Amino acid sequence: MKPTLWLPLIMGANVWVFALAQENPTEPLPAPKPPPSAAESYTVFAYNDLGMHCLNKDFSELCVLPPANTLRAQVIRRGSSPEIIFENLQVKYSVPGNTQSATKTNFWKYAKPLFGVQLPTNVGLFGFGLSGQMQPTSDRDYAAFGIPLTQITDAGVDDSYQLAKVDVFQSGVKVASTQNVVPVSWEMSCNQCHKATSRTTMEGSILVAHDKRHGTNLYAKRPVLCASCHADPALGAPGVSGVKSLSAAMHGAHALRMPDQTSENTCYACHPGPKTQCLRDVHKANGMTCSTCHGGMTQVANPARRPWQDEPKCGDCHRVPGHEYEQPGKLFRDSVGHNGVKCIVCHNSPHAIAPSSNPRDNVQAVTKQGHAGTIDTCTVCHTQRPSDPFNHTAHGD
Ligand code: HEC
Ligand code: HEC
Ligand code: HEC
Ligand code: HEC
Ligand code: HEC
Ligand code: HEC
Ligand code: HEC
Repeated sequence: MKPTLWLPLIMGANVWVFALAQENPTEPLPAPKPPPSAAESYTVFAYNDLGMHCLNKDFSELCVLPPANTLRAQVIRRGSSPEIIFENLQVKYSVPGNTQSATKTNFWKYAKPLFGVQLPTNVGLFGFGLSGQMQPTSDRDYAAFGIPLTQITDAGVDDSYQLAKVDVFQSGVKVASTQNVVPVSWEMSCNQCHKATSRTTMEGSILVAHDKRHGTNLYAKRPVLCASCHADPALGAPGVSGVKSLSAAMHGAHALRMPDQTSENTCYACHPGPKTQCLRDVHKANGMTCSTCHGGMTQVANPARRPWQDEPKCGDCHRVPGHEYEQPGKLFRDSVGHNGVKCIVCHNSPHAIAPSSNPRDNVQAVTKQGHAGTIDTCTVCHTQRPSDPFNHTAHGD
C-alpha cells in the first residue's frame, strides 16, 4: 500500500490548554559507540521524512492536519562494496514508551466525519499503528506511513522529540537496529490572535470569522476539514477548483496581520513553535531563521509556487565542485547521493540537518560513528576505508 502522496504534517492546534509536563524526559541517551567491526554485516539508518510532523489535538471543530508521522529506513549490507538492501528483510518499528494515542487525542471519534473512514482505534490513515512492520518501497528503502503518534508519552510526558526504534530481521534473526527522532507537535498558536467568545471556542471563532468573510457555512457543519475545499498536497487532497490552496490562503491572508513578516517568531505563530523550536539544526546554529531559506509570508503565499513541492534546495546555497545535491525534480527527502544512499541518511531530516542542537537528533550518528554531525565515517558502511576518494554524487561517476 502506498499513499497517493506522502503525508507530511507540520501544524497542530493547542486546542485545550493542556497542562504541559516537563520539556524533555530525563532518560539517558545511549552511550557513543565506535564504528562497527568488520564482522557486523548490516547497518540500518532510520529517518523522518520532515523535520517536524504536526497535528491538531482536538478534532471536534476543525482539522488542519491529522496525526500522521512517516518513518523510513534504509538498510545497507556492509562490505568492501556496500549494498543497499530493500527486499527479503523484516523491518520493525516502535516508539518505546508510546504505545497508544487514543487517550491523548479525540481523532478516532471524528475520523469518520472528517475523512469518511472508520479507523480502528490507534491505527492511522494509511493502516499503520504505533508499532509494526515497515514496508519496502520503490525508493529502495522501507517505510511506515501515517503513524498516528502524539507528543504525549504513555507516562504523560510532553515530548516532541521521542526516539523511535527500528530493528531489522533476516529469517527471524535480528541483524541491525537503530534509533531516530519521530518529531511531532500540536503547538500551533492561533490563540495568540483568535480568542474564544462567550458563544464559541477559539476554533469556533475561526470558523465564524471564515463564514463572515467568505460566505461559507462552516460553523454549522463542524467538524470541518480545511483540505476538503483548500487543496493540500500534504494530505493528497485536490481541493475545490477556484479555491486557493490551504498554504496560499493561510500565508496570503495572514501576511498583513503579522507584526513582523520575516522573523522566526512570525512563523512560530502557527508552526511549532516557541516551545517546540522545530528549527534546531546546523543552520539555526549559524544564525539562520525560517525566512533565510523560505522568504517571508508573502513569498510562501506566492500563487506561482506549488506548495509542498517548490521548497528551498541545499544546492541553492551550497556549491562544491564535483558535488551533486538534490536530484532534478526531487525533494531533498527523496533524493539520493553517494551511489544511491539517501541524502537524509547522512545529513538527517530537513530542519534537523546534522549536527542538531537537540541531542536526540544526534543519537543515530553518535551510536553509529561515535560523533554527531554528518555521517562521514566510511567504515560505518564500508568494511574498510576505500582507497578511492568519497564521491558526493548519486551514481558514483
Ligand atoms: C498574528 C495574529 C494571527 C494568528 C497567529 C492567526 N490568525 Fe487567523 N486571523 C487573524 C485576523 C486578524 C483575522 C481576521 C479576523 C476576523 O475577520 O474576525 C484572521 C482570520 C482568519 C480566518 C478567516 C479567513 C480569512 O479571511 O483570513 C481563518 C480561517 C484563520 N484566521 C485561521 C487561522 C488559523 C488556523 C491560525 C493558526 C494556525 C491562525 N488563523 C492564526 C490573525 C491571526
Ligand atoms: C466549504 C469550503 C471551505 C472550507 C471547508 C474551508 N474554506 Fe477557507 N475559503 C473557502 C473559500 C471559497 C474562500 C474564498 C476564496 C479563496 O480564498 O480561494 C476561503 C478563504 C479562506 C481564507 C482567506 C484567503 C484569502 O486569501 O483571503 C483562509 C485563510 C481560509 N479560507 C482558511 C481556511 C481554513 C483554515 C479552513 C479550515 C478550518 C478552511 N478555510 C475551510 C472555502 C472553504
Ligand atoms: C497564520 C498561520 C501561519 C503562519 C504565520 C505561517 N504559516 Fe506556514 N503554514 C500554515 C499552514 C496552516 C500550513 C499547512 C498547509 C497545508 O497543510 O497544506 C503551512 C505550511 C507551510 C509550508 C509547507 C507548504 C508549502 O507552501 O510549501 C511552508 C514551507 C511554510 N508553511 C512556511 C512558512 C514560513 C516560512 C512562515 C513564516 C514566514 C510561515 N509558514 C508562517 C500556517 C502558517
Ligand atoms: C536551511 C534552510 C531552511 C530553514 C532555515 C528552514 N527551512 Fe523549511 N525547508 C527547507 C528545505 C530544504 C525544505 C524542503 C525539504 C525537502 O525537500 O525534503 C523545507 C521544507 C519545509 C516545509 C515543508 C515540509 C517539510 O518539512 O519538508 C515546511 C512546513 C517548512 N520547511 C517550514 C519551515 C519553518 C516554519 C522554518 C523555521 C522554523 C523553516 N522551515 C526553516 C529549508 C529550510
Ligand atoms: C539559504 C541558504 C542555505 C540553504 C538552502 C541550505 N544551507 Fe546549509 N548552510 C548555509 C550556511 C550559510 C551555512 C553556514 C556555514 C557555511 O557557510 O558553510 C550552512 C551550513 C551547512 C552545513 C555545515 C557545514 C560545515 O562545514 O559546517 C551543512 C552540513 C549544511 N549546511 C547542509 C545543508 C543541507 C543538507 C541543506 C539542504 C537540506 C542545506 N544545507 C541548505 C546555507 C544554506
Ligand atoms: C554517504 C553520506 C552522504 C550522502 C548520501 C550525502 N552526503 Fe552530503 N555530505 C556528506 C559529507 C561527508 C559531506 C562533507 C562533510 C560535511 O559537510 O559535513 C557532505 C556535505 C554536504 C553539504 C555541505 C557541504 C558544502 O559546502 O557543499 C551539502 C549541502 C550536502 N552534503 C547535501 C547533500 C545532498 C543534497 C545529498 C543527496 C543528494 C547528500 N548530501 C548526500 C555525506 C553525504
Ligand atoms: C551510509 C553508508 C556509506 C558511507 C558512510 C560511505 N559509503 Fe561509500 N558507498 C556506499 C554504497 C552503498 C556504495 C555503493 C557500492 C556499489 O554499489 O558499488 C558506496 C560506494 C563507494 C565507492 C565506489 C566504489 C565501491 O566501493 O563500490 C567509493 C569510492 C566510496 N563509496 C567511498 C567512500 C568513502 C571514502 C567514504 C567515507 C568518506 C564512504 N564511501 C562512506 C555507502 C557508504
